[in-house]
Amino acid sequence: MENKNMPLPHDQNHSIYDLSYETQFGPGLHRFTQMSLNTIASILANGKVIDIGCGTGRLAIPLAQNNYQVVGVDVNAGMLSALNAKAQRLNLSIPTFTDINQLEDQHCDLALTVFTVLSYILDEDGLLELFQNINRHLKPGASFLFDLASPAAFSQNNRRYNGNGLTGVVNVQFINPGGPIANYSEEVVVNRPDEFPNNHTVTEFFQIRCWNLNEISSLLAKSGFGFTRHIPGYSGMGAEYYVCKKEI
Ligand SMILES: C[S@@+](CC[C@H](N)C(=O)[O-])C[C@H]1O[C@@H](n2cnc3c(N)ncnc32)[C@H](O)[C@@H]1O
Repeated sequence: MENKNMPLPHDQNHSIYDLSYETQFGPGLHRFTQMSLNTIASILANGKVIDIGCGTGRLAIPLAQNNYQVVGVDVNAGMLSALNAKAQRLNLSIPTFTDINQLEDQHCDLALTVFTVLSYILDEDGLLELFQNINRHLKPGASFLFDLASPAAFSQNNRRYNGNGLTGVVNVQFINPGGPIANYSEEVVVNRPDEFPNNHTVTEFFQIRCWNLNEISSLLAKSGFGFTRHIPGYSGMGAEYYVCKKEI
């Protein structure tokens, strides 16, 4: 379990997280989100979804709007407050939690860890604990949809973006070339006087890991998941998508 005093990824940038992604990826991000929602609909037409690493609700919000019952889990309380504010504005009910360990069994039809959530976990013990927790929150036969980030998409040197009052630069450098762990850093100058009266600079630094399916298959099996199916259509988009089922 994480040390509560350690800074978490997105502690610094949660208030500009959505805007930063909008600025970097624009309509492409919306198309990608729609594609993910279509994938989810092809797995589960309706029912209860637990979105782990739900962030600011990129998927949780439209899923709730489409009448799924959604529970959101994210270790970062700042990301959850952004989600909660949107849910309140839209009059949606999405219970949110920061600690999956303390959440009583949710009996869900589907679990999601999508948009590189698994990359935030750096060691096998942490991943095994998460998979076991996910399994605990699912009904027998329920599905688990996840993505695995592609190392090529994560390798970025000095990628710059500009717009919406943000000027950002992103660097992702693998610690050892060909190794799985990378240092992610992002520095954003925020010039949005209406929301933030003083210009300021937001600096994020954290580590990420690119897992491959071979590495995680035995952890999924140990956690009570069956055969993993690759979902076609996401190649070239920075991550590959997979679905498996909780064994009955
Ligand atoms: C890149 S964001 C993705 C957000 C969202 N899933 C989406 O599709 O937009 C990754 C999120 O995973 C969260 N996260 C990382 N490790 C986590 C863990 N062990 N349990 C729950 N959330 C986690 C981070 O706080 C962050 O909000």
